[in-house]
Amino acid sequence: MGSSSAPAGERAHAVCLPAAAQGHIIPMLDVAKMLHARGFHVTFVNTEYNHARLVRARGAAAVAGVPGFRFATIPDGLPPSDGDVTQDVTSLCKSLTETCLGPFRRLLAELSDPATGHPPVTCVVADIIMDFSMEAAGELGLPYVQLWTSSAVSYVGVRHYRLLFERGLAPIRDVKQLTNEYLDTPVEDVPGLRNMRFRDFPTFIRSPASDDYMLHFALGIAERAVGASAMIVNTFGDLEGEAVAAMEALGLPKVYTIGPLHLLAPSSGINMSLWKQEEECLPWLDGKEVGSVVYVNFGSITVMTNEQLVEFAWGLAKSGKHFLWIIRPDLVKGDTAVLPPEFSVETAERGLVASWCPQQQVLNHPAVGAFLTHSGWNSTMESMCGGVPIISWPFFADQQTNCRYQCNEWGVGMEIDTDVRRDAVANLIMELMEGENGKVMKKKAQEWREKAVKATKPGGSSHDNFDALIRDVLAPSR
Ligand code: UDX
Repeated sequence: MGSSSAPAGERAHAVCLPAAAQGHIIPMLDVAKMLHARGFHVTFVNTEYNHARLVRARGAAAVAGVPGFRFATIPDGLPPSDGDVTQDVTSLCKSLTETCLGPFRRLLAELSDPATGHPPVTCVVADIIMDFSMEAAGELGLPYVQLWTSSAVSYVGVRHYRLLFERGLAPIRDVKQLTNEYLDTPVEDVPGLRNMRFRDFPTFIRSPASDDYMLHFALGIAERAVGASAMIVNTFGDLEGEAVAAMEALGLPKVYTIGPLHLLAPSSGINMSLWKQEEECLPWLDGKEVGSVVYVNFGSITVMTNEQLVEFAWGLAKSGKHFLWIIRPDLVKGDTAVLPPEFSVETAERGLVASWCPQQQVLNHPAVGAFLTHSGWNSTMESMCGGVPIISWPFFADQQTNCRYQCNEWGVGMEIDTDVRRDAVANLIMELMEGENGKVMKKKAQEWREKAVKATKPGGSSHDNFDALIRDVLAPSR
């Protein structure tokens, strides 16, 4: 793609376009804050739906912006709904792809109108899920950088779906084919990945041919990324250097690792939590001993059955440990979460249940000794940066790949079977918080934390890559 023709010296203007879900908005906000701190004028584009939610959860001031940092919106194209539209990933991806190019194109034109008083748009940074925007940026000759919000290993996993087709492992005929034995099939010689089984690939590969929208969507966006000016990834070289090299070998433009983003981004008053955070978790943690609390949170999209919720509950109870458990209002599929009353009585002294929390602060709290998580990538990065080992119950998408690497390569995690049972939950918690394995994992998590911090300090790989991204791609003439 051509580079911007804005005259040298004029302020650069970056349009940041996150995908319309919590786990994607948070890392894009960090990128936007970093650009703003480097003198860019920033326009951060939410969907109208999420913007309205932010106003409800955090008040209008949260999305009023600050000088040089503005918010704008585009519609997501979905019909009005009583539920949370960000949870139906297939409908959301489909609608964004089919309906958003026109509104985004008009927004870019409006933002570049001198009458706005803003500098004209000089570059676009878009989540790879929003890849319809590549066309709009291309029409204006703007540098176009894509953000892959997950692990580098998961990107490589998606790109190798074709390898799984060639080897006859996918697409599957129907879900009955997905026995444990099938899922455990070793997949050898996958460039850039180690010790993979079929089950460790991002889960869209498990779609039967009759329902494969997400499989082809994921593969399509990953392949089309070769047309971007650059790719940025929320990871760091020491952790994923091998996979990043594999990404470039797959034909991508230069890949800049600039993570962990939450360490590199300046703190500022802008917070884009779509749920209201219950801050009282923090003083509750203050009263607990170092490393004594299990923190349980399955992110913004995972859903489970009430039976699974009850197994987790009794597992926590049986472990005998203190716990902070975040139960999102919509965590239980199609229903309200119901915890057994005896569980609540039995654990009243040592458990706190809340609906959403300031997770980064929780994972940095010395009282937290283990994280029971779905292994979303932000949660993985935040856990490693808190030096907290992981018990992983991956749900979908990249989480299975992240879990495999946590457990097998990075030495920080243990996995719970999809068919979760209370005894397994209790045993893993005890092993992680009291056993020899747990000590080794804790030490490993702390080593990764040190490496992550180092990567984001001046002279560190992520810190310097961000400088290079600005110099080489986003504002070369400034
Ligand atoms: C989604 C996908 O599921 C995930 O696999 C992908 O890597 C990113 O997009 P999500 O499921 O929400 O994200 O998980 P995760 O990546 O962990 O992101 C959740 C974010 O919300 C984290 O930054 C976390 O700190 C924040 N959060 C979560 C809170 O601030 N409070 C909470 O109570 C829960």
